[in-house]
Amino acid sequence: MPLFSASDITKSFAGVQALRGVSFELRQGEVHALIGENGAGKSTLIKIMTGALTPDSGTLKLNGHVLTHHSPAHARALGIAVVYQQPALFPHLTVAENIALSLEAGGMWRRVDWKSRAARAIELLERAGSAIGPGRLVATLSMPEQQIVEIAKAIGADAKVLILDEPTASLTGHEVESLFRVIAALRSHGVGIVYISHRLEEISAIADRVTVLRDGQTIDTRLVNEVDRAELIRLMVGREVSAIFPKRKVPLGDVVLETRALRSRAAGIRDVSLTVRSGEILGLAGLVGSGRTELAETLFGLTPADGGEILLRGKVVRIHSPSHAIGLGMGYVPEDRRQHGVVLEMPIAANASLACLPAVSRYGMIDAARERGLARGCVEQLRIKTGSIYAETGSLSGGNQQKVALARWLAIHPTVLILDEPTQGVDVGSKSEIHGLMIDLAEQGVAIMMISSELPEILGMSDRIAVMHAGTVAGVLSRQEATQHAIMHLALGGTDA
Ligand SMILES: Nc1ncnc2c1ncn2[C@@H]1O[C@H](COP(=O)(O)OP(=O)(O)OP(=O)(O)O)[C@@H](O)[C@H]1O
Ligand SMILES: [Mg+2]
Repeated sequence: MPLFSASDITKSFAGVQALRGVSFELRQGEVHALIGENGAGKSTLIKIMTGALTPDSGTLKLNGHVLTHHSPAHARALGIAVVYQQPALFPHLTVAENIALSLEAGGMWRRVDWKSRAARAIELLERAGSAIGPGRLVATLSMPEQQIVEIAKAIGADAKVLILDEPTASLTGHEVESLFRVIAALRSHGVGIVYISHRLEEISAIADRVTVLRDGQTIDTRLVNEVDRAELIRLMVGREVSAIFPKRKVPLGDVVLETRALRSRAAGIRDVSLTVRSGEILGLAGLVGSGRTELAETLFGLTPADGGEILLRGKVVRIHSPSHAIGLGMGYVPEDRRQHGVVLEMPIAANASLACLPAVSRYGMIDAARERGLARGCVEQLRIKTGSIYAETGSLSGGNQQKVALARWLAIHPTVLILDEPTQGVDVGSKSEIHGLMIDLAEQGVAIMMISSELPEILGMSDRIAVMHAGTVAGVLSRQEATQHAIMHLALGGTDA
């Protein structure tokens, strides 16, 4: 008997049939991967499993018992724990408080034993493979660190069913390895694990079985060691796609962006000296916490520099705010799209035109027809899955929101474009399309800085690779010199050979 099963589940939202008869079963002590293109229905299915959404029809069973009136509290009580695609922590509370809040009964206002609370948090974080300080405010944590806190919470809940929705999207090699050790340990204790990821190599590394969803339907469930990557892709997209990085050689122009001994105490970066040429893709590699996102935020004026220089086309500039940076011709797609990537409450069309209002405006008014044209173009070019360009961006699937964040910059041609994990959470087919678009932009002379935690992406797409460690650049590798090994060596604090 399966540990958990969902049969013939349907679910529709206003105008969108997200699930049309999905069936899925999870055994005790297995890692069951759930894969499919952006918008296939993966997150919707797991929200139904955790009681966060009510299905329109279908049956859920745990240990053979039908679950009726399923709710998040009910799911928690039954030992179903989940780490959502977007961490859902309280930013103004500490790490220990967040963990305690989810585990302790009776609410947080009763008398608490701070010492044991901190000790418990440290222990769970350690089991999640991390040494994040329990006293830190969640607001100060990076996305990957928040993800790890979510995982610690789930471990603490002593779950029988553990659902992970793209837990590794923003993690680098080391963190992924330690997460995999955690998963393996839980599996050996009989926990059933549902694992969602767009990184297919992870599926073969960690999963026992894999279920493929497409357009809200179950396509197939297979044993992982009886199916190869090409077949998984075929099952997912229903057609042949090459998932090879389509790097084309683009002639490089002049240096467009240069930093000289750049420092920002607030951002924790120091002594960063880099150049990016027109037409060049500079990869920025490094571990979580090495300062890559912080460097991007300093360049874009979110945490302004307090030392060193930024030069744009040879001229020293002091970038004091994002709007100043945009005015200077810079574009930025942040990793945490919820914070400043897209406005979730706004329709797709408005998000797409946000950075190029002059182009869609006439006499200071937005020209609806031009905006519509622009948005339609973006939706088509990036294959954003939506019923309408006027749909709220927040109603899109995670990967499709990421595409909207990118769409904005395709409409204008910035001088410098900084992309933080541009294909995070994006499915294989769309990923190679985004890579193709990046090269198109480079061909048009845009200087691109790409932060990525995926070494194959860094190696495949970059002309040169700057590796960060402890807030500074540990070394810069040419395309020829760069290997996974050379990058990891620098990322771990080794010196440039
Ligand atoms: N609250 C909502 N309102 C309207 N439509 C929604 C809502 N939630 C999901 N959808 C739609 O349901 C479909 C399935 O979305 P879901 O988030 O389950 O996809 P997914 O497989 O998790 O994709 P991704 O890989 O991008 O995370 C999408 O078309 C999405 O736009
Ligand atoms: Mg999803």
